[in-house]
Amino acid sequence: MTNSTKPIGIFDSGMGGISVLKEAKKMLPFESFVFFGDGKNIPYGTKSINELIKLSDDICTMLIEEYDVKAIVIACNTATSAAVSYLRKKYEIPIIGMEPALKPAVKDHYGGTVGVLATEVTLREEKFQKLSALYNVSTTVLELPAPNLVYLVERGIVDGDEALKEIQVALRGEASRLDALVLGCTHFVFLREAINTFFEGKLAIYDGNLGTINNLKRILEAQALLASGPEGFVKILNSGGDHLVEQSWKLYRL
Ligand code: DGL
Repeated sequence: MTNSTKPIGIFDSGMGGISVLKEAKKMLPFESFVFFGDGKNIPYGTKSINELIKLSDDICTMLIEEYDVKAIVIACNTATSAAVSYLRKKYEIPIIGMEPALKPAVKDHYGGTVGVLATEVTLREEKFQKLSALYNVSTTVLELPAPNLVYLVERGIVDGDEALKEIQVALRGEASRLDALVLGCTHFVFLREAINTFFEGKLAIYDGNLGTINNLKRILEAQALLASGPEGFVKILNSGGDHLVEQSWKLYRL
């Protein structure tokens, strides 16, 4: 197997990363992907940094040793904030992380109020705090931790009354103040339509999935690692058991 035909590893605590996998496969159809969801250890959003580094490290080692991946995408804002620097120092292959898409949201809504729905860890960690400090002068950045939405998507619920009710809870009475909303957790990308319905299509919504895959593509190109065909495969693994693999395929095919 030449380097460019090797698969790409992607991981998350669970279903959220499937939204990144979907975008990746759409943009890079010739690439093969091995996705790992850590259903046994979900949620990541309330764990300590040391725990998150250990979990991410073990997953990267497994993806490299068992699947010989040429690059790894951390399809999780939480694991990125906790572990990306550590992983980049330890491993030689490219490690692509993600962060909440605050920059484009602020650019489009300068001076307004931008909400960021993410996990507690993502919002609390230095990476986001530094990013937010850059913009919080001109624009109000509202931090909205939303663990309830992670569980919702994990159960495969992405629309309907229950989704709308949980979205309302997650917005903590701040909905009418918002000019834009950033989905800073990959799980929430599956709720994009429901959130759009909640706001009657009147609120600008941002996520980091496309930016992350564009970044992956640029890095693969620069290192002559981009596959050039035929169409690649997708493999989905989950530490939480086969029912979560099935659930992941359902969301992948949505
Ligand atoms: N999907 C993850 C993220 O983007 C985290 C969800 C969790 O708490 O496990 O942050």
